[in-house]
Amino acid sequence: MTENIYVTPQQSSLTEGNFKTYRNIVTGNEPWFFWIWYEVVSTLFGGLGGILGIITRRLFFQKLFNKNSGKIIIGRGITVRRPKQICLGSGVVIDEYVTLDVKDDGFIEIGNKALISKNSQIVAKNGQINLEAGVNIGFATRIATQTKISIGESTLIAAYCYIGPGNHQKSFDSHILIDKPMKLKGGVNIGSHCWIGTRVTILDGVTIGDGAIVGAHSLVISDVPPGATVAGTPAKIISSI
Ligand SMILES: CC(C)(COP(=O)(O)OP(=O)(O)OC[C@H]1O[C@@H](n2cnc3c(N)ncnc32)[C@H](O)[C@@H]1OP(=O)(O)O)[C@@H](O)C(=O)NCCC(=O)NCCS
Repeated sequence: MTENIYVTPQQSSLTEGNFKTYRNIVTGNEPWFFWIWYEVVSTLFGGLGGILGIITRRLFFQKLFNKNSGKIIIGRGITVRRPKQICLGSGVVIDEYVTLDVKDDGFIEIGNKALISKNSQIVAKNGQINLEAGVNIGFATRIATQTKISIGESTLIAAYCYIGPGNHQKSFDSHILIDKPMKLKGGVNIGSHCWIGTRVTILDGVTIGDGAIVGAHSLVISDVPPGATVAGTPAKIISSI
């Protein structure tokens, strides 16, 4: 067996495998009673189906969050880590099996009437994610950052997208990449009233202007002007308003 096993910094803390690590992941530095409340509520109501599940999660789950306006719908089987670092607006819908995951000093803010569809993941690893009012995130999309991602009002993101992936720093003195920190480029900024097609990847550092459209299966590596339609790998302008 190999003596030195190289892992990511996050993997390193996870593989310690103790309760302290677990508690830190799910509720951060919140007091013990909050962690116990989190455990009770998740165990009793987290997996409950039907209207009973929706009602009980509305009553009990939402109190876990930093701020919420009451009228939220939370589907069964969602994973919420560090709920005190998550704000939900009025009428927000979090569908079944969504993950809202905050690490370290990260923060997630979801605006009024935003919809996060099934199996999607919103991951603020020490960064800030801001989804404005009316944003619609399709099935199984991942939005993850160590810096910042903002998505403007009423922007539509189709299924199976990945927004925010960054680069691992290359090392010149060894072939080992996995334990190197990420090379951060400032996050992703998507404007209002955009339409991002299915299976699009938008890399860290990209800004997409208001009203832009990104074609299905595109890889966006550079900025997109407002009102432009881009497509392809890498994405290029195919038309503009
Ligand atoms: C980007 C899109 C909106 C463009 O539609 P359009 O304006 O009608 O464009 P056209 O079909 O006339 O295509 C214009 C050119 O762009 C190319 N193109 C269009 N979509 C493309 C794509 N996704 N990837 C690569 N090239 C694409 C076409 O081949 C055509 O090239 P040509 O001029 O060399 O023949 C559309 O093709 C698309 O990808 N829609 C996303 C669908 C989706 O994901 N829906 C999810 C539901 S929310």
